Amino acid sequence: MTIYEAVGGAETFERLVEGFYAAVAGDPVLRPLYPEDLSAPRRHLTLFLMQYFGGPSTYSEERGHPQLRARHLPFVIGRAERDAWVRHMSEALDTLDLSELVKGQMRSYFDGAATFLVNRPE
Ligand code: HEM
Repeated sequence: MTIYEAVGGAETFERLVEGFYAAVAGDPVLRPLYPEDLSAPRRHLTLFLMQYFGGPSTYSEERGHPQLRARHLPFVIGRAERDAWVRHMSEALDTLDLSELVKGQMRSYFDGAATFLVNRPE
């Protein structure tokens, strides 16, 4: 069974990303990096995570290969940005009623991937 199936599919990813961007919207570190209208980022992250965790590959059909590191190079991502991103995602994850096993697997992905995206080492 994929994580996508284990968490109940698309709706869970929509709620996760909605919670995440609600926090980004009020974050003085992260908010300036994102466009004024958060609806495209919300859609892209939702589709990406659904695909990454074993759901439909709509993300790649629309956006091509994820190339996450290349796509993040235009934004300065240091320790503060990385930590804020992970904290908001982790808090959004905590609002969902999911097993600790699944949450742990998702958290460890977010932790590692966000570290990999740091492009301004201190
Ligand atoms: C686990 C870590 C992360 C994942 C999986 C992730 C995923 C994504 C995805 C899928 C996109 C959309 C790419 C596209 O199709 O155009 C995106 C955009 C973006 N990400 Fe991340 N990201 C992560 C970490 C971060 C971090 C740490 C920052 C730090 C500030 C960040 C800032 C942004 C920004 C500013 C955009 C552009 C939004 C837009 O203009 O549409 N991301 N990210």
